[in-house]
Order: sequence, then C-alpha cells, then structure tokens
Amino acid sequence: MPAVTMDQLVSLCKRRGFIFPGSDIYGGLQGTYDFGPLGVELKNNLKAAWWRANVYERDDMEGLDAAILMNRLTWKYSGHEETFTDPLVDCRNCRARWRADHIKDTCPSCGSKDLTEPRPFNMMFKTQVGPVADDTSYAYLRPETAQGIFVNFANVLATTARKLPFGIAQIGKAFRNEINPRNFIFRVREFEQMEIEFFVMPGTEDAWHQRWLDDRLAWWRSVGLSGDNLHVYTVPKADLAHYSKATYDLMYRFPIGFEELEGIASRSDYDLGSHSKEQGSLGLSAKVGRNDDSTAKLTYYDLESKRHLVPFVIEPSAGVDRGVLALLTEAYDEQQIKPVTPERAQAVAEALAAFVKSVSRSEKLPAEQRDAMLDRAELIGNNLAASMAQIPALLDMPGAASIELGKKLRGQAEPALDESYRTVLHLKPSLAPIKVAVFPLKRNAPEIVATARQIRKTLQAEGNMRTVYDDTGAIGKLYRRQDEIGTPYCITVDFDTIGQGKDATLAGTVTVRDRDTMAQERVPIAELQAYVRGV
Ligand code: GAP
Repeated sequence: MPAVTMDQLVSLCKRRGFIFPGSDIYGGLQGTYDFGPLGVELKNNLKAAWWRANVYERDDMEGLDAAILMNRLTWKYSGHEETFTDPLVDCRNCRARWRADHIKDTCPSCGSKDLTEPRPFNMMFKTQVGPVADDTSYAYLRPETAQGIFVNFANVLATTARKLPFGIAQIGKAFRNEINPRNFIFRVREFEQMEIEFFVMPGTEDAWHQRWLDDRLAWWRSVGLSGDNLHVYTVPKADLAHYSKATYDLMYRFPIGFEELEGIASRSDYDLGSHSKEQGSLGLSAKVGRNDDSTAKLTYYDLESKRHLVPFVIEPSAGVDRGVLALLTEAYDEQQIKPVTPERAQAVAEALAAFVKSVSRSEKLPAEQRDAMLDRAELIGNNLAASMAQIPALLDMPGAASIELGKKLRGQAEPALDESYRTVLHLKPSLAPIKVAVFPLKRNAPEIVATARQIRKTLQAEGNMRTVYDDTGAIGKLYRRQDEIGTPYCITVDFDTIGQGKDATLAGTVTVRDRDTMAQERVPIAELQAYVRGV
C-alpha cells in the first residue's frame, strides 16, 4: 500500500530520526527541516547515486561545487533580480500573506475575501557581505545552483579541453523565500538541488532535450520510483520561465497528488549569452539584457566551422528533498501480518472512540487541527483492522499531544501493532540508510555478543556497508524497527552460531532475515559478505 497521507511520512520521519522540523526547541523556523541520522544517510545515498550515474558513468560530464554566495551581478544578469518573483496577496482582515496562484479569491486562514491586488515578491534571500553595510555590500543566497555552473563555463572548458556536447553537474544548497512553505519537505526555504547544465551545438537542442527526458525518467525508475507514479508534463508556452524555450516537468505522485520532482528545460543560448560581454558580436538567438559588467565572452571554438559560438543548454534540474520525499512515498508500506485478537481490537476501538469524543469537545484546539484529526480518526475507525498502523501518525498530528486520552489510545494500540502489524520501507538496498543490522539473541551471553559485534565490524569494514549492532529489545521488536527504516537484512547470532545449540551442524552460521519477504535463512558467517553483497 503506498503512503496515504503526508502525516504518516512526517510521523515516521520524526519517530525514527529521518527528518525533524528545523530549530524545533525554539518553536521551529518555517520552511526548514533538519535531516537526522537516517535522513542524512538516505539523502547522501540518493546524491551519490545521481553523481555516479551522471558524472562517473558518462563520458561527457564534469563535476563542480561552486560557492553559494555569488557576486550580486550574477543575479542581475541571470534575470533573477527582476523576474524571480511570485505573486503575493495580503489578507486585509487577518494579515496573512499568500501566493496569489495558490488560493482562489478567499483567504484560507480566515475566509475573508478582502485581499489586496497581487504584487510581485522577489524570493531571493539578501545578506550582507563584509562589515560595512551600504548599497553595494550585499549578496543573495543562491536560489538555484545553475548560475554557479554558467559563470564557471570558461574555467571548466579551459581546464578540461572538453568538446561539445558536454555537461557540468553540481549538487548543492539553494534558498528561496517561499511565501507559503508547506507540505513537509516538498516546498521549503532551504533545499538542495542536483543540476546539470548540458552544453550542445545549436540546432541539436531538441534531440538532446528528448534524450535527457528519457535518461532522467530511466534514472528515477532505477532508484525505485514506479513508472505509474511518474508522468511528464509539457509546460505550456505561456507558463515558461524567462530563460526557457521548452520545459518538461517530471511529475511524481506525492501524497498531495502529482507534483513537480524535476524540471528539464531547454534554455537556448540565454544563460551563456546573458553573462557574456560584447553580446552584439555573438549572434545570439535569445533575447538577453545588455551586459556591461562581464569580463568574458562565454563562447566555444568550433574546430569544424572555425568559429566561436555560444552553446545551447539543456538543464535537468532535480530537487534532492523532493527526491527523498518521493523515495519515502514509494517505499512506505503498512502490513498486517497476524490477526488482532477480538479483545484487543475491541479495546483499541473503544480507546479510539473516547479519543474522538475528547477531540471534538476540546476547546484548546484550533478548529483546523481539530477537524483534521477528526477526519483522520474517522478514516481509521471506518476500517480499523486495515488502518490500525495509522494510529501513531494520528497521535503525532499537530495538537494531538494536548488530548489526554491520546496516551490511553497509544497504550492500547501499541501492543496490537507490535504483535500484528509492521510498517516497512521497501527502499532499494543501495539507498537504504542502514544495509545490515546485527542482533545477539541474548545480550547477556558474552560469546554471542562478541560474535555479533565482530560480524558488524567486519561487514562495515570489508563490505563497506553501513552496519549497526542492536541489542536493545526482543528480536521481533528489533526486526520491526529495522523494517520501518528500510534495512534490507537483519542478522541474528544465537546459541547454534557459537556451537552451543541443539544442532551442531549450525555452528558458525547465523540467521539472515530478508526485509521484504521476512524469509529467514541460515548462512555461514564466512559467506555473509557475499550474501548481502550488492546492497
Ligand atoms: N535551475 C532551474 C531551477 O532551479 P526549478 O524548477 O525552479 O528550476 C528545480 O527548481 C527543482 O528544484 C524543482 O523541480 C524541485 O524539485 C526543486 N525545488 C524548487 N523549489 C523548491 C522548494 N521551495 N523546496 C523544495 N524543492 C524545490
């Protein structure tokens, strides 16, 4: 079953240490999130997979890591100072601010129709550079990584002697002062991008645009997104960004519906032309603003035609955070693995009914939070057996902590969930934050513990895979914890392993459990690395 709601993902991410709200102990900072111990691994694995496929496995790509702070003239000539805006409206009644294209004609906060006319709001964050604050000592935090690539085009060309077509790839932070950051890590103010600027001979851009679309779709499938959940949206001409000749948006079926995961734009010679001096001599096809500040002509010498030309650009630009969200959405699964006893089911149903009553009577809760919780509780209650695993997410919803009876509901639900359900992330093993977890059957049996610790150390060092040791619970509970974070293999060391079990032939072997099938197999310790290899 795919993730039904964003709340389930938010709850799992917080509970298990993937993603936390930014600056949480000070009440948060809207539009920022911190990646925890598992989130950072997942994100790093996604970025490494992208880098491997796009830089190492191709013959036509170089990498780059440009500075986040750039000379402000970059943003003048890129067009961002003038056009990187969203239409903003104010509600005159409650003073909330909204993106005009995200609301109809009613304030979502208070329902008032008394809204100002839309006006452009520039989304770049401004910051001061150096100790003296004057009109010229400011810079912007980059709103995209792309411009760092364009301004380094001549440097990369000169130092690598590349011939067209070739690309420059970069992964890095970008910042946008979004009017309404929302939907967890889907729309945030600080995020990461994985961008490629691919430089091609003018006239070949349409074929390259199509090739990049196909390549990028294939790559997203290769990291685990299903074709059914991906679709291509051709951006209508009227909606194209100022630099774009044509753009495909790769859309993913997030819990909020199909939304953009990556844009693949055909940017003509706009960017290199905009950042060049003496543009009149370059024969540009794009309409660019006059540049009196650049010291370079960003051209390429074509040996065949013996002339300098400005390459055209195809730009596949993906969001790392949206990529992580898509992977989690795709991988999330809740399974009932055993029937719940009728007595337990009855106790949970009663606790849920009492919780609902308490929520609907609560005077502390804002109406929005109360209604959201009641809607969710109703959905769960309508099919309790299939939806019981959603109770922790219900109890993590905003405002739920203030309902005293939530504790009782959690207390009733937890044993049922432990016995009969599991949440599992079917992440591709190469992306899973942890590849192998090793458990001792008994944590007070020194030989078992020593063997388990040694296996962990060996797999980590020689197999170069993130491996953890855990002895903090019963084996069933440990399995479920690892299922929930997507660990492909769990290894259990028991008395048979150390030659003290009933079956002497099992000495030197361990139990390996597969996350997806839950099948268990006995494997010799010496063969473990080969068994779990490739994760
Ligand atoms: N250089 C082109 C560019 O930046 P974009 O469509 O504005 O194009 C590219 O951004 C990708 O960056 C998007 O497809 C999305 O995945 C990600 N992205 C953009 N704004 C974002 C935000 N506020 N929060 C999270 N990801 C964002």
